[in-house]
Amino acid sequence: MSQRTLVLFKPDAVRRGLIGELLGRIESKAGWKVAALELRTLEKETLEQHYAEHVGKPFYEPLVEFMQSGPSVVLVVEGERVIEGVRALAGPTDPIAAAPGSIRGDFGTIVRENLIHASDSEESAERELKIFFPDFS
Ligand code: TYD
Ligand code: MG
Repeated sequence: MSQRTLVLFKPDAVRRGLIGELLGRIESKAGWKVAALELRTLEKETLEQHYAEHVGKPFYEPLVEFMQSGPSVVLVVEGERVIEGVRALAGPTDPIAAAPGSIRGDFGTIVRENLIHASDSEESAERELKIFFPDFS
């Protein structure tokens, strides 16, 4: 089943020069295609929509602050089971709990600076694609 997912390489990944490394892991999966890609410093309003489910949690304010701290790479990736697939490549939210071989497991230590976002369901993907690429059909 071909799907589309919204992926962010977060400001820590861009600062550390990991765009190529992360993109390579996604592009090397058979049949997956990058359908849109942009380097963008995310606006507070965009992030408030994107992270609406986390409003009021203790990590919310520092998260939104961190996500504005430099440019991110914003991507649409499409292909077979890509929503579940990019989540699997990313690994669990806490990089210390993430297995080596996953992006977060290989490169992260701090939960907030966990390198990558990927939509977690078809509903989230549809919602997030509209936030980041309102004109994308
Ligand atoms: P969440 O949606 O739970 O994780 P994921 O990105 O794996 O879908 O949380 C969103 C982001 O918020 C997460 O990537 C990093 C940050 N965060 C924290 O800084 N502290 C926390 O305790 C949690 C749960 C998340
Ligand atoms: Mg999430």
